[in-house]
Amino acid sequence: MKHIFKPGKDESKPVLLLLHGTGGNEQDLIPLADIIDPEAPVLSVRGNVLEHGMPRFFRRLAEGVFDEEDLVFRTRELHDFLDEAAQKYGFDRGNIVAVGYSNGANIAGSLLFHFGKVLKGAILHHPMVPRRGIDLPDLHGLNIFIGAGTNDPICPPTESEDLGALLGGAGAEVHFHWEQYGHQLTYSEVERAAEWYKATFHD
Ligand code: MLT
Repeated sequence: MKHIFKPGKDESKPVLLLLHGTGGNEQDLIPLADIIDPEAPVLSVRGNVLEHGMPRFFRRLAEGVFDEEDLVFRTRELHDFLDEAAQKYGFDRGNIVAVGYSNGANIAGSLLFHFGKVLKGAILHHPMVPRRGIDLPDLHGLNIFIGAGTNDPICPPTESEDLGALLGGAGAEVHFHWEQYGHQLTYSEVERAAEWYKATFHD
């Protein structure tokens, strides 16, 4: 997968796995990594699917309606890519925290739904439930931040709430942060995520 890897100033820090939203690319979320932890290694990946020229991490049939077969295929593809990247760049495969926005948050959620504790934690900005009607693996010990907007028309609040309930039901520690806005990722939401990250992984 097309990606950027930036070695960290402190190699013991979790690798921040950056996953962009629809129409974004591997450059988009680099500024978030600097806010969350400027010393952390960064692996920023571009989704392999194109929708009218816009990169995504998996296909959808309509807005909010996912192509499940492609979702499962692409989730495995990203999972396998993480294995390869850990070998290639020499980082600890068990020390990855995902930071995803919108479609990127959805593939991060899908990694957890299908592969369990392949991430150490996740910051999910405006996520949805990637897939319904499946049993989730054990997620005890996983820390998850969900940031969402009460007026988000693309990712309705119930989607983020349901996702949090499903992850929590499987044992994950889920922390919610709500903004009174829509689908956009605001600076204050990123700041709250960074505070949560520092409290969860450093203190
Ligand atoms: C998705 O397709 O993953 C969600 O609807 C959000 C988005 O537009 O990326």
